[in-house]
Amino acid sequence: MPFQGQKRRFQTSFKEALRDFEHAKVVVDLFGGSGLLSHWAKQQLPNAIVVFNDFDDYSKRVSNIERTNALLAQFRTILKDAPLDKVIDKDRKAAILLAVRAEQQAYGYVDYITISSSLLFSMNYATNFADLAMQTMYNCVRKNDYELAPDYLFGVDVIRADYREVFNMWKNADDVVFLIDPPYLSTDCSTYSNYWKLANYLDVLKCLSGTNYFYFTSNKSSILELTDWIERNLGGENPFSDAKRVDVNARMNHNSGYTDIMLYKSKK
Ligand SMILES: C[S@@+](CC[C@H](N)C(=O)[O-])C[C@H]1O[C@@H](n2cnc3c(N)ncnc32)[C@H](O)[C@@H]1O
Repeated sequence: MPFQGQKRRFQTSFKEALRDFEHAKVVVDLFGGSGLLSHWAKQQLPNAIVVFNDFDDYSKRVSNIERTNALLAQFRTILKDAPLDKVIDKDRKAAILLAVRAEQQAYGYVDYITISSSLLFSMNYATNFADLAMQTMYNCVRKNDYELAPDYLFGVDVIRADYREVFNMWKNADDVVFLIDPPYLSTDCSTYSNYWKLANYLDVLKCLSGTNYFYFTSNKSSILELTDWIERNLGGENPFSDAKRVDVNARMNHNSGYTDIMLYKSKK
């Protein structure tokens, strides 16, 4: 299901890099997002405890896939004769909102992010009813159901807390590896529950000092340039020195793109 900032493109390189961490007894995914890194970590290191910090309650979205599929099926019926990829007219939009409201009232939950990707302009997401109601809707409802994923988080421990709390809980454990994929600086964080400023972003670097870690960033964030500059000019510790690095290029459209970066360091 859609999740902004998901690390899908690192599947092969992340799994390969985990070979450096075969000694790990605990893997802690501080910024779990969609849980994809936790899922892969559990596959590769089945004997390790894997902790997924589900800050955005993604597991709730996973456990509601069936209901989300049913809602999308209702949208397809409402939009049966409507032109594809075009703006949805007033009456059909009203019918869609009625269906969403009925779902909200009957079950107390709607996966707004997932339904947004079937109704809103690319990369636009609503997180509640009012948000959805005020946006222009497009007929881009996906044709197929989302696959049910009952085993997606099998064996993974799910918690939900601020990353600092989770880090403090585990920082003194033996053979612990932290997966650190914070919200990107200067990207659209509209679907995240809070907004990240530079100081918040720099605070995260404290989790890298003396730990086993994976850290994810992109060339848009300039964090590597900054830590490198501080080391060379002010003699500060560079938490990324001696880390291994993998770059993956992402294309937004034909003339713009960026590079996603994974850094990792094992103390052993
Ligand atoms: C780049 S995403 C992580 C993506 C994830 N690795 C994946 O593959 O799906 C960053 C995540 O950090 C979450 N987040 C924001 N503030 C946080 C905090 N204070 N503590 C923990 N997580 C936080 C965001 O909501 C978002 O889910």
